[in-house]
Amino acid sequence: MLAELDTMEREALDELGAVADAAALEAYRVRWLGTNGRLRGAMDALKTVPKESKPAVGKRLNEVKAAIEAAFNARRDTAAAAPKGPPVDVTEPGLPVGEGARHVLAKTIDEIVDVLGRMGFAVADGPELEDEWHNFNALNIPDSHPARGPADNFFLGGEVAGKLLLRTQTSTVQIRAMETMKPPLKVCAIGRVYRPDAHDATHYSMFHQVEGLYVDRRVSMVDLKSTLVQFAKAFFGPEAEIRLRPSFFPFTEPSAELDMKMRVMRNGVPEWRWIELGGCGMVDPNVFKSVGIDPEEWTGFAFGLGIERVAMRKYGIGDIRLLFENDARFLRQFA
Ligand code: DAH
Repeated sequence: MLAELDTMEREALDELGAVADAAALEAYRVRWLGTNGRLRGAMDALKTVPKESKPAVGKRLNEVKAAIEAAFNARRDTAAAAPKGPPVDVTEPGLPVGEGARHVLAKTIDEIVDVLGRMGFAVADGPELEDEWHNFNALNIPDSHPARGPADNFFLGGEVAGKLLLRTQTSTVQIRAMETMKPPLKVCAIGRVYRPDAHDATHYSMFHQVEGLYVDRRVSMVDLKSTLVQFAKAFFGPEAEIRLRPSFFPFTEPSAELDMKMRVMRNGVPEWRWIELGGCGMVDPNVFKSVGIDPEEWTGFAFGLGIERVAMRKYGIGDIRLLFENDARFLRQFA
């Protein structure tokens, strides 16, 4: 009987070594460890062993049983840990992962905020859905002004008809900043503005502006111009130049149109050209009065630039619509 047990143990372990899959493993379990399995049979056979050999055979049988169970459990655990599904060739080249990147406008905005931040401008914010006070009246644009008509603005309908509109300029944030902060203050605001323009290569009904506002004692036109010069050089490089041309805006007096000499791409060749970027000027005393700031004590400058213009000129983009179509083939060029 002892010799038989040795043979049985070897047979069991050899057979386990040949088990190839989960079904074979289960069949093995039934055959060896099941209620009618081989081990059970050996236990029953123990009854017929002569009394004096029983202790030795019983001990050996227990060892064989323990060995087979241990080997089976180990095999089952390895099978459970093994990956399911077909084998994977880890050396095979992978499929390309479409890598995301910043949108060219987002990149331009980051650069502008970065430069202005280094110049001491904190970032201020305001809603895109505005009331007429912040978009017009507080900015010294009276009720009778032609720019307030429905043809030039996106007014909301319904209960708020004629009261709320999508802001047409980020100058609204000047008012919001001065309503909530006391001078001296130095803030910039970046955001979307909306105008009912027909879309073409240079017009879109939504675009972005960056606004700057500095209010302190004895701020002058010199501060404005030197700030814009610094901004241009930091943004476009040390060769950049600006020029101010007299103009009119209701919220600044005097007012100027801001041109920047920019390195623009024309047919793949860089060249320097004067590009009109926006407006600027000294904050009109009426604007200070509308937010309760004493114009006898405080002075300030403000500027507002179109961000699409900056981005298009800087990156040689000829059509504003390309910026909003989200065609990855176009955007990838600037990633
Ligand atoms: N808000 C003006 C526009 O949308 C731009 C502008 C002009 C902003 C002069 C200013 C400024 O802050 O001082 O056309």
